[in-house]
Amino acid sequence: MCLMKTLHVQASRPYDIVIGQGLLSGTGAMARTVNTGNRVLLVSDSHVAPLYAEQVLDSFRKAGYSASLFTFQAGEERKRLATVQEIYARLAAENLTRGDLLAALGGGVTGDLTGFAAATWLRGVDFIQLPTSLLAQVDSSVGGKTGVDIPEGKNLVGAFWQPRLVVADINTLSTLPPAFLADGMAEVIKAACIQDAAFFSDLENSDALSSLNAADTVRRAVDIKRRVVEADERESGLRKLLNFGHTLGHALEKHYNYQYSHGRAVGIGMMLVTQAAERAGLTPAGTADRIGSLLTKYGLPTHDPVPPEQYLANAALDKKRSAAGLDLVLLRDIGRAFVHPLPISQLDSFFL
Ligand SMILES: NC(=O)c1ccc[n+]([C@@H]2O[C@H](COP(=O)([O-])OP(=O)(O)OC[C@H]3O[C@@H](n4cnc5c(N)ncnc54)[C@H](O)[C@@H]3O)[C@@H](O)[C@H]2O)c1
Ligand SMILES: [Zn+2]
Repeated sequence: MCLMKTLHVQASRPYDIVIGQGLLSGTGAMARTVNTGNRVLLVSDSHVAPLYAEQVLDSFRKAGYSASLFTFQAGEERKRLATVQEIYARLAAENLTRGDLLAALGGGVTGDLTGFAAATWLRGVDFIQLPTSLLAQVDSSVGGKTGVDIPEGKNLVGAFWQPRLVVADINTLSTLPPAFLADGMAEVIKAACIQDAAFFSDLENSDALSSLNAADTVRRAVDIKRRVVEADERESGLRKLLNFGHTLGHALEKHYNYQYSHGRAVGIGMMLVTQAAERAGLTPAGTADRIGSLLTKYGLPTHDPVPPEQYLANAALDKKRSAAGLDLVLLRDIGRAFVHPLPISQLDSFFL
């Protein structure tokens, strides 16, 4: 029995997000509802491909596609142009034409890489996302941001390119290492913080990742991202709210030269910015404590041994800063976020 929920994203090119258990074997048939091509290249990494690629390839073949697999070594280090070039070489060898399809099976690295290849191959071909990490299911597979890292920085090269379909099979989370589950939970907690107080309470009062609740957790978190990106596809305003916890989170990640988990950094970033906002009287007292309890509950730290004064200056280099300063995201309350412009000159006094 496969229960599924479908969310519809009203983007420049609208698409569905299908969430449920045991969906991967139906991928080909679902792809057929959005694409009429002959060929599909399935892209996956060396951890995920051995677990799930065969059933996805099978389903594509049953739906009449000529399907093949491109696998790369798992890890952020491979999210770069060299890997995209290897994908182009395969697309050329297999003569993948304008009406054909790419499919990303894996975490955010696979999705970002594949989406970027799809955005640029023949100036844009269809692609679908089959996210298998919690982070990819609730965050990176939705919204249309694709791209790669270059030595000068993470995600500096990319394109907005919407998927034609997202299929999140919750069963794949059973093989995801616990550290990556916790990583994804940071984005789930962030989503609740910025938009949905009732969801936040449910995260407090039940086990969001139990087999009973996981699909619902993914659905609610992704629905928050859906609403935000629908309202602001290209990040001019509302989409900034998704950066809650990310300004200091990125600064901390940079301090560790990106050898630090993104989810853990975002959790610490949410704590620091909320504590500072409480001191400034902008957020009700006790809010950071509630966020901290939730982080602890889902296996995430609330602080790092390195104090913020050692990495705060990195925030001034944030690629999302404007000339005037930083657009910090703060909480008016749990479930209600707002943008608080902060001149760089006030960075120290606000946080320290
Ligand atoms: N495009 C966006 O909007 C957006 C948003 C947030 C993050 N990102 C990007 O996402 C990336 C991080 O995503 P991630 O944490 O999913 O990284 P990832 O793709 O490296 O996956 C994490 C690890 O889990 C493994 N894995 C994934 N699914 C698995 C499964 N079901 N079973 C076993 N192992 C599995 C992967 O092989 C990898 O080792 C970063 O590159 C980040 O920049 C993009
Ligand atoms: Zn994030």
